[in-house]
Amino acid sequence: MDPITRCLHTRNEAVDARPSVTPLYQNSAFETGSAYFYTRKNNPNVEEFENVVRDMEDARHGVAMATGMAALRTCLEQLRPGDSMVLNSLVYGCSFKLVQRFCNRFNVDLHILDLSSPEGIATVPEGTRLVLFETPTNPFLKTVDIATVVRRVKGSDPTALVVVDNTWATPLYQHPLSLGADVSVHSATKYLSGHSDVMGGMLLTNRDDLAEAFRQERFYSGAILDPYAAWLLRRSMQTFGVRLERQARTTAEMREFLAGLPQVENVYYPEIDGQQLRGYGGILFIELRADLAPRYLELLPALRYFGSGTGMACVTSMIAQPYTGSHASMTDAEKDEMGLSRALVRLCFGLEEPEDLRRDLREALASIDQPVLTEVAV
Ligand SMILES: Cc1ncc(COP(=O)(O)O)c(C=O)c1O
Repeated sequence: MDPITRCLHTRNEAVDARPSVTPLYQNSAFETGSAYFYTRKNNPNVEEFENVVRDMEDARHGVAMATGMAALRTCLEQLRPGDSMVLNSLVYGCSFKLVQRFCNRFNVDLHILDLSSPEGIATVPEGTRLVLFETPTNPFLKTVDIATVVRRVKGSDPTALVVVDNTWATPLYQHPLSLGADVSVHSATKYLSGHSDVMGGMLLTNRDDLAEAFRQERFYSGAILDPYAAWLLRRSMQTFGVRLERQARTTAEMREFLAGLPQVENVYYPEIDGQQLRGYGGILFIELRADLAPRYLELLPALRYFGSGTGMACVTSMIAQPYTGSHASMTDAEKDEMGLSRALVRLCFGLEEPEDLRRDLREALASIDQPVLTEVAV
């Protein structure tokens, strides 16, 4: 046999290898007769990650997507021109833009409403086909009563969809499907990954028809999670519980500590009612004293343990300014409408020793709370 031909066809089937963890199936194609078809449709690593998250949130189906945005977009694909949808007014900036652009382009009637109170939920128009909201919300961590939204929406149209972005509550602390929601969405890029090194999304549903629709959409749009990303995410899930518990403890401590600092005007933390939201993870918002807001950029080099930028919900602590970061794609008028100001700062706590984080924040905030020294020419 020609060495080139031999090189092409030599394979080690590893029949009795029995690996102790699931190997990476980094292949696009499967042989005829395989239980799989083509990685754009399904893949063993993708399925394993789906099963892990699905079981943790007590759902019937998990459909893994390339990113959280791809997961949200796949939900919107259930709408038809002429339908109407509701979006909660507090929402991640790119989700806001995605919905706004989608509705404009496909002639869907969009209502942006405040769903954080029963009175707000009562304003959801009859005949709404889809409601999308985060709880707790990004920003401000307000909670939305999932069961009340479900009652309102399904009261006028039992086939309407209630879609909850569960990214910030996580499968550990909130199960929207058990409260009647049709879909629970995750940006797996955040807590599920936890290491800022992989992107992914997840759609959870108890409805067989929706799961099938999502899988079809994913196959044709090509927005499936990559096998290597699925393998990394599955591995990350093994430490998800302990990471989150530690982050939750640190965040609860930080809430009290930050409230006592003279540079901090407000601390935002969600209401944990023990029923819908049974706990809370590692992210909170603070509002800097108004005179310190213009000095936000000076805060970054003064911090030793907080990385700055778009990452969050990972093992190391992070700081960000939503106005110029997570919500940068919105116009200033849209940000004003949302109540966003440059004084709002997002803090994500990692796995560092809380005392180190406290010292870091205390010293860095004190360093920007000094008169600015101006050089005087002599
Ligand atoms: C609440 C929420 N949903 C969805 C997304 C989008 O997820 P991804 O960045 O994985 O596309 C984000 C990203 O920050 C988010 O915060």
